[in-house]
Amino acid sequence: MSRQYYIAGNWKMHKTRAEAAGLAQALVSQLQDGKHKYLVAPSFTALETVGAVVKGSNILLGAQDVAAEEQGAHTGEVSVLQLKDVGVQVVILGHSERRHTYKEDDALINKKVKLALKHGLDVILCVGETLEEREAGQAEVVCESQTIWGLSGVSAADLARVTIAYEPVWAIGTGKTATPEDADAIHAYIRKVIGRLYGEDAAKNICIQYGGSVKPDNAAQLMAKENIDGALVGGASLKAETFVPIAKFA
Ligand code: PGA
Repeated sequence: MSRQYYIAGNWKMHKTRAEAAGLAQALVSQLQDGKHKYLVAPSFTALETVGAVVKGSNILLGAQDVAAEEQGAHTGEVSVLQLKDVGVQVVILGHSERRHTYKEDDALINKKVKLALKHGLDVILCVGETLEEREAGQAEVVCESQTIWGLSGVSAADLARVTIAYEPVWAIGTGKTATPEDADAIHAYIRKVIGRLYGEDAAKNICIQYGGSVKPDNAAQLMAKENIDGALVGGASLKAETFVPIAKFA
């Protein structure tokens, strides 16, 4: 496989600056011999602190969201210019918590995707179905639609800076993981959608992470699947003891 494994930690709304720095320090030292691509995404308040720790290491600095506008009267939002200013390289967009709890729709997510790419940030675009959608046999259709909408207007050249994260909503933070076979089937489907939109090479090269209760004891089985190219890890990314074994899955 020519694709590189990409393991990302989404720290969500956890950790003070001191706690974040401690975790980042542990990861820098324990992953320095790691063979894959790595990212940590702390809260906005800890970005600068964590950025200073991971600088020069093999760990990228990610943000968990960005505003859809460059700047202006948007109380409570954080702009792409401000993220770049503190050294952010990647932004996670369309996470299910943003979609469902904060009611972000595909149009808004697409606007953020395009703005982030325009300013040189890489993007992890999250897609995934709810339990009801899965039970109604709509998992593929939902992921297809979120992928198409999320990437609308994104050029083939910019697609090279996009990673897709398939995160079934029912598997996030619940301890329920999609079976490697079920996950791989959706990944293959998303890859087919990318092929239809951007051609065979793009489909072959795009990195598709799996997310949803990835743990040290299931990471290797998931990564063994042909279409699973990495992981977006929530809960298990909050401690080096659980993130490092995932990041170094054997
Ligand atoms: P989880 O979260 O690993 O805690 O299920 C994954 C995510 O939300 O990215």
